[in-house]
This record gives sequence, structure tokens and C-alpha cells, in this order.
Amino acid sequence: MIVTVTMNPALDKTADVDTLVPKALNRLRNVRVDPGGKGVNVSKIIKILGGKSVATGFVGGETGRELRRLVDSIGLVGDFIEVEGITRTNLKVVDQDSSLTELNEPGIKVTQEEINGLLKKIQDLSGPGGLVVLSGSLPREAPEDTYKFLAQSLNRAGARVIIDADGPSFRAGLMAPPFLVKPNRFELLQYFGLGPDTPDEDLWPLAQKLLDMGLSFVIVSLGADGAMFATKEKRALAKTVPVRVRSTVGAGDSMVGAAALAIESGFDFEKTVRLCMASSVGAVTTEGTNPPTLEQIRELEPKFELKYF
Ligand SMILES: Nc1ncnc2c1ncn2[C@@H]1O[C@H](COP(=O)(O)OP(=O)(O)OP(=O)(O)O)[C@@H](O)[C@H]1O
Ligand SMILES: [Mg+2]
Repeated sequence: MIVTVTMNPALDKTADVDTLVPKALNRLRNVRVDPGGKGVNVSKIIKILGGKSVATGFVGGETGRELRRLVDSIGLVGDFIEVEGITRTNLKVVDQDSSLTELNEPGIKVTQEEINGLLKKIQDLSGPGGLVVLSGSLPREAPEDTYKFLAQSLNRAGARVIIDADGPSFRAGLMAPPFLVKPNRFELLQYFGLGPDTPDEDLWPLAQKLLDMGLSFVIVSLGADGAMFATKEKRALAKTVPVRVRSTVGAGDSMVGAAALAIESGFDFEKTVRLCMASSVGAVTTEGTNPPTLEQIRELEPKFELKYF
């Protein structure tokens, strides 16, 4: 079973405005609410690909109940832990020129005891040999090394762990080590203390350093430039194919979900690369964080040119 963990989920409220004016009254149109959080996005793509997952994490208050309801309403299986406090609502305001302004509330607070409870739940849901995806930011007051703690405990229990995080929680999480990580170019360079002008060829040795730390699979996503895939045996660069881009938000989550499904299904390297590329490139053609359809993914899969290194 694949378990997706969103420790700090949100209700994503998206609205349109003609032109956003700061320090003035702005009247919103087309207000819509979606269950937010990177793990929830990962569960969405797994479902499209025909896989099964359970989405877990912490929720609280009325917005927490709404989040659970919305997760159910889109046909996902959710099993969240209720804590004190109120699940945040993140407001995304889209101007008519498509520019985006985001107003994010602070996340929920959790205790170490609640984190231990989450670990128990993840273990019960995933079972030995399960696959666990830890995605996104940590709740307020959770220790920086929470992903390391969870991943180490899950490793001991025989699960395989994917971490998609940045900054200190990515840094700490790598020490576990997880089975797979998917930093984007910026996150990888930040981890190694390198500047943004580092050429892409120089990223291979960095991916290798992560493999040397005990990881089995490293994917470095390069936005519109595609992605680099590295295991101990194989390395390939896949370029994107031209598509009409609507929103790149959550493209990385689609890639992570595809990788989780491919690993759980035991797909070979090339099939995994194609599924990751098709799912993420398909995701940028849809509004917001909406996943692509399975037909779109199947149509894209054979189109990528893979360059082996
Ligand atoms: N503009 C784009 N055109 C085509 N494909 C894209 C584009 N942006 C992203 N992708 C696809 O999505 C993948 C992941 O994108 P990216 O590197 O932006 O991830 P990310 O920064 O982790 O995103 P997020 O965290 O918002 O989900 C890329 O490797 C690529 O396959
Ligand atoms: Mg990302």
C-alpha cells in the first residue's frame, strides 16, 4: 500500500480578481475550494494511474473536517489524525493577466506525542514492504529532523520512503536515508551550497553523492528542461516535449506520485522515467494542481527522448 503523508495540509481557496490592488478592497470572483497539500496531490495522480493510496497527516477544526470531506468527495481514501487547532486555509488570487498572489496562513501545531501517533498510523497503513511518501512543509513546532525520525523508523519496519521537501527538513531527511528523493534544481543546489548558475552537467556528481549516502533513486527535476534520473546502475536525462502550459504548480507532486506508483509496481528504469515525465508534463497542461488524465499520460509516455549517461 502507498501512504502519502501531508503533515501540514491546507484548504486551497482559489479566486479570480480583475486586477489585485494592495491596501484596497478587492472583490473576488469564482471562489473555489480544493483539498490542498502535496501528499494529497500525490494521492490524486496515483489514483489516475490506477493505483491505491491512503492520504494521512494532521487536521484540525472546521477546516480540517472540510478537508477530509473534500478528500472523500474526489474519491481518495483519507485517514487523517485530528489534533487541536485549525487546518490552515491558503488563499490564491489569480489576476486576469494570470499572475498569482498567495496568502498562506500559518500551519497547525503538533506535539512529539502526536508525531509518534502519526508514525504508528503510517506503519499500520503501509505494513512491511509498503511505500511511504513524506511531502511538503512540517507543522509548526515539529522538530526539523521529523522526516529523518519518521523515515528511519519506517526503514526499520521494512518500508520504502520517498521524501519531497526542501531546506532543513530535506537536509535532515537525507540522513535516514530515504529510498528516493526528488529535489528540483534549486533544492539540490541549495543543499550542496551551490549557486543557481551551476551548469546541469555538474548535477550528476551531486546526485551520485546522494546515492553514496545510501539512497536508491534520485530524481532531479529541472522544470521546463525535464529531469535527471539516477540509480546505482543507470542515469538518464529526459527532456520535456512541447505542451501548452497552464500551471506548473504541483508538477513535481505528479512526478513524485508517478515515481511512487512505478516503484510499488516494480517497473523497470525506462518505464519509470517515462511515467514520471508523462505525469508531470501532463500536469502542467491543467489548471492549478489538477492532475492530467490517464489518456493524456499514455499519449505522452512514448514521446520522450532519453539520453543515457
Ligand atoms: N514549463 C514546463 N513545461 C513542461 N514540463 C514541465 C514544466 N515545468 C515542469 N515540468 C515537468 O514537471 C517536472 C517537475 O517540475 P519542477 O521541476 O518545476 O518541480 P517542482 O519545483 O518540485 O514543482 P512543485 O514542487 O511545485 O510541484 C519537470 O521535471 C517536468 O517534467
Ligand atoms: Mg517540489
